[in-house]
Amino acid sequence: MVVDIPQTDPYANYCAHKAAIDGAITRVLDSGRYIMGDEVLSFEKEFAEYVGVNYAAGVASGTDALELALRACGVGDDSIVFTVSHTAVATVAAIERTGAEAILIDIDPDTYNMDANCLETAVSKSYNGRAIAIVPVHIYGHPADMESIRKIADNNELIVIEDCAQAHGASKDERGAGTWGHMSAFSFYPTKNLGALGDAGAVLTNDIDLVEKVYSLREYGWTDRYVSDIPGINSRMDPLQAAILRVKLASLDAENKQRRFHAERYSKIIDKSSVNVPYVQKGVQHVYHQYVIQTAKRDELREHLLGLGIGTGIHYPVPVHKQPAYKGRVGTSGSLIHTESVADRILSLPMYPELLSTEVDIVAEHIVNWAYL
Ligand SMILES: Cc1ncc(COP(=O)(O)O)c(C=O)c1O
Repeated sequence: MVVDIPQTDPYANYCAHKAAIDGAITRVLDSGRYIMGDEVLSFEKEFAEYVGVNYAAGVASGTDALELALRACGVGDDSIVFTVSHTAVATVAAIERTGAEAILIDIDPDTYNMDANCLETAVSKSYNGRAIAIVPVHIYGHPADMESIRKIADNNELIVIEDCAQAHGASKDERGAGTWGHMSAFSFYPTKNLGALGDAGAVLTNDIDLVEKVYSLREYGWTDRYVSDIPGINSRMDPLQAAILRVKLASLDAENKQRRFHAERYSKIIDKSSVNVPYVQKGVQHVYHQYVIQTAKRDELREHLLGLGIGTGIHYPVPVHKQPAYKGRVGTSGSLIHTESVADRILSLPMYPELLSTEVDIVAEHIVNWAYL
């Protein structure tokens, strides 16, 4: 029997909150204030409180959040920033937009996150004072090894900016994603765990000077209106998106719990087969932005599921250092062996809070049956 189960479904999430979202949109329309204003200020306050830091600056996207955080920390032309190649291209694009060079670090093949040992080797080389920052990515919603990364950063006087685009609400040993770094950057792209109905992002920090720099950078470098002290850009958060995000923030923990419930159900069934299920480190509260399995016959399984009406994704099929735009331009830390080997094996299964348990069972059982064909 052919089913219709998409890999992700932001429309279902809108429907789940329709009345409250429509009310919030009407409130903004009726306010007469269409740039920044109280909705953005309130969202910034509520989201900073949720993550557990002092300040948030709403911006236009996750990519802008990363770029402005980096620029606030002094990253610019000739700087070097360490990050991973197993990420959305946006991570590296944001680094390059500041004028900096990205050095790409290999990943731990179990968690898919930055390998702290590889980072240690890379930072120990001499960069003539150009090395400024590290951008770990909490990929798929599993926090990176932040204790080790922060230690390496502190020992080498490097700034840490967490890419939290996939990790709203994730934690390790009760400490939340977005609280380990000097700054953190969030995306609210519609399919994210906290998703707007358009583009939006935010920069978070405990440091008042850094957040004030972002307030200025996101609005033409203004300190006073119409007076630019530094060169900035226009990357303000849209108040309509802020109002929508305020509605959805109230359900984020419950929706993350639902994602975990689905993930555990998938793992319990699929674990019986030869297909690898996600590894979760001790003490980690995974938020399963993606539920990613691994198999050597990934493309064959993907085709098989598609024929049954089951959507899947690949996050990501081509590591950044192999993308046409970045090939040969981005410095690497030598071997990216794990980054390259997982790219051919990973498959993201349907994962969103509104997914039904019966649908999870159908997908998982088809995978187990396929594995024994
Ligand atoms: C890891 C990561 N970093 C950065 C971004 C960029 O976010 P945005 O699409 O909001 O610019 C994304 C989202 O696509 C992402 O997944």
